[in-house]
Amino acid sequence: MKPEEIDWNNLKFGYTRTPVNVRCYCRDGQWGEIEEHAEETVTMHMAATAFHYGQTAFEGLKAFRCPDGKVRVFRMDENARRMQSSAEYLRMGVPSVELFCEMVTRVVTLNKEYIPPYESGGSLYIRPVIVGSGPQLGVKPASETLLLMFVSPVGPYYSGGMKGISAIIDRTHDRAAPFGTGHTKAGGNYGASLTSALKGHEKGYDSVLYLDPAQHRYIDECGAANFFGIRVDAAEGGRAHYITPASHSILPSITNKSLRQIAADFGMEVEARQVELDELNTFSEAGCCGTAAVITPVSTIFDPADGKTYRFGEGVGPWSKKLYDELVAIQHGEVEDRHGWNTVLDL
Ligand code: PLP
Ligand code: COI
Repeated sequence: MKPEEIDWNNLKFGYTRTPVNVRCYCRDGQWGEIEEHAEETVTMHMAATAFHYGQTAFEGLKAFRCPDGKVRVFRMDENARRMQSSAEYLRMGVPSVELFCEMVTRVVTLNKEYIPPYESGGSLYIRPVIVGSGPQLGVKPASETLLLMFVSPVGPYYSGGMKGISAIIDRTHDRAAPFGTGHTKAGGNYGASLTSALKGHEKGYDSVLYLDPAQHRYIDECGAANFFGIRVDAAEGGRAHYITPASHSILPSITNKSLRQIAADFGMEVEARQVELDELNTFSEAGCCGTAAVITPVSTIFDPADGKTYRFGEGVGPWSKKLYDELVAIQHGEVEDRHGWNTVLDL
């Protein structure tokens, strides 16, 4: 699709073809040159470990067209490090932070006409994918790894936006095992979440709230996003607490890390720890956060075990709104980038 054919004001979170993707191969421990490709397909050996042994992981990050005319990429070094940890765990070639960031910069630059205008509220989603591309018959790591990156202009992940989503607790399917791959962005975690997500949708819920897989006692994640709650403590003169689960089986979200910092900057009490389901009763606001989800308010959580619905109100609550506004303002260069999160590109 040509950029002039794009309806910028009605973008969804979906794939749009853009002119260039970038690729780099690691063979026997050596990363090669960055390649630029126009085709959307990849030719791979049928015995590639990606196909049968799940040697795949990915990342997601965004670039923004800003009011000052520049383009900002949010915290790409963090995505680089998280991809390193996924690649290490899955025994693939590990790209350097420099290679990862150079590929991000290159793929954004080469597709700059596809960065949505600021006024549209959209962004350019960057999807790095890393796979074991070499053949193997035994369960062994591939000797060749492919890192590729493509981009797509996107709008909101949840079409209801700030209206708030409904979630259902699922104790019959876990997205990750207690000491498994949940802390990495392994592709298998997402394949494993499809049944629960689709069953949730069939029952009329927007998302699934996963509990810790060992005991189903603590909150883990909300769909493909982290979870947080806000508790306002009257005994502390109305001090707000930003509370988010800490668990080995959740993905360490870069958005959540940023929100914890912003919350601390606002003087909120930040708590990253195990969160019991019961504690939902003490939250005045709840939300899920991630690159795609940004902050999406969670309005209701239904627990099929006892038929109870936890309610956090329609729309976005005051603290979630404040956090959202600040995050988005930093990403667009509208307030000072006081923590040095953005890479500014003159495109
Ligand atoms: N949790 C899961 C399972 C995810 O897929 C994502 C998306 O990347 C997140 C959390 C949020 O992470 P981030 O804020 O780094 O995008
Ligand atoms: C993201 O937020 O970047 C994600 O990866 C979530 C989802 C689209 C898989």
